Amino acid sequence: MTTFPDGFLWGAATAPHQIEGNNVNSDFWLAEGRVPGMERSGDACDSYHRYAEDMRLLAGAGLNAYRFGIEWARVEPEPGMVSRAELAHYRRMIDTALELGVTPVVTLHHFTNPRWFADEGGWMGERAVDRFRAYVEVVTGILDGVPWVCTMNEPNMLALMTMMARFAADPELAAQWQSPTVDEGVRPVLPDPDPRIGRRLVEAHHAVRDLVRERTGAAVGWTVASQALVARPGGEEKLKELQYVREDLYLEGAKGDDFVGVQSYSSQWVNETGIEPAAPSPDNTLVGTAYRPDALGIAVRHTWEATGGIPVLVTENGIATGDDGRRVAYTGEALRHLGAAIADGVDVRGYLHWSLLDNYEWGHWGPTFGLIAVDRETFARTPKPSLAWLGEVAGRNALGSGPASVQAAGGDHQGVADGVAQSHRVAVGRVGAERVVLHGGP
Ligand code: FCB
Repeated sequence: MTTFPDGFLWGAATAPHQIEGNNVNSDFWLAEGRVPGMERSGDACDSYHRYAEDMRLLAGAGLNAYRFGIEWARVEPEPGMVSRAELAHYRRMIDTALELGVTPVVTLHHFTNPRWFADEGGWMGERAVDRFRAYVEVVTGILDGVPWVCTMNEPNMLALMTMMARFAADPELAAQWQSPTVDEGVRPVLPDPDPRIGRRLVEAHHAVRDLVRERTGAAVGWTVASQALVARPGGEEKLKELQYVREDLYLEGAKGDDFVGVQSYSSQWVNETGIEPAAPSPDNTLVGTAYRPDALGIAVRHTWEATGGIPVLVTENGIATGDDGRRVAYTGEALRHLGAAIADGVDVRGYLHWSLLDNYEWGHWGPTFGLIAVDRETFARTPKPSLAWLGEVAGRNALGSGPASVQAAGGDHQGVADGVAQSHRVAVGRVGAERVVLHGGP
């Protein structure tokens, strides 16, 4: 029996660009129109208009928290021009969550930038930190009642995107864009993000942390892509080196925060030469990552250690699969590893599944991570059994008896048994996509 602490948050997560639809002022929207092979986000899940229905489904299933984001490109369509109507929209979202008894966890930046910000040089532009600060200052005005604020989503992935955007103008590099879903075969491992960009993002995070705290009283943190890197014998030194540049720089940047968001999907092996390239396997997920529900335990323990013991909120964990039984199996197993870390003393405050909805996965619609299916034409929502299952776990605040564990045990754990490590394909595709657009040029 795995139990979770009192007051544990149980919920699901989304990001504005992936669900709202028609974020036409975002740099990613521009990318979608330019990069060969990329699908468009278009109307996405039309959650811009249907957010209340989404939250009702979440709350109705028994979940008590919803992580969603505010889209900077909507709030500040031109530098210094603030849309009061958009702020009111996001305030309505917060109110809707609160009325439903759902704790809002709000992300201020989730990969996408306003086009004008990209044109100014993006995150390495001279005014980047000031621009972000000014945006955040405006947003703090609507965050009353929000107890958890994530300043930035996966700065370690964002650094990689920013780096790749330097090649934006190069058509040959643009042609190398890799789909996270439709390409076959072994993929190259993601490059390391440039630490100079990482340090700039840390600076941006620090520039807004106290501002948000003072003006809202929310717990403030950022969410880091946990790669659950594990050394093969002989790979220990290499592991340290890679961990720093890919993850720990950002976890160190979280020191002094109120919490740190852990986002975990899979794990990768490191040998003396580096990360082992992905090996194709029938157990891989729809984005080509290894089936590794144990990654969450590795991620949470490493994050706890590297931040010197900051409270952890699992802000994303999930699996791209068309088989909902497999989603339940993966999640049940991941929660068991999370519970073991908690039992060992890691202070974990909640678990937010990625994702509430099947959504636009940064260039593709194929990889389905959702607890709820969405008809792309009618926008009809169809909850999957995994939504009710997670709601039941939330209701019991425990795993281990009853139908949840029966279902979870029925899954295919071959990937774990084999210990097969894969590269994070979804990120490769996304990075490739960013190559051509973000921040508009070298
Ligand atoms: C994370 C992103 C999220 C989604 C999932 C699958 O890295 O934060 O937007 O793409 O991966």
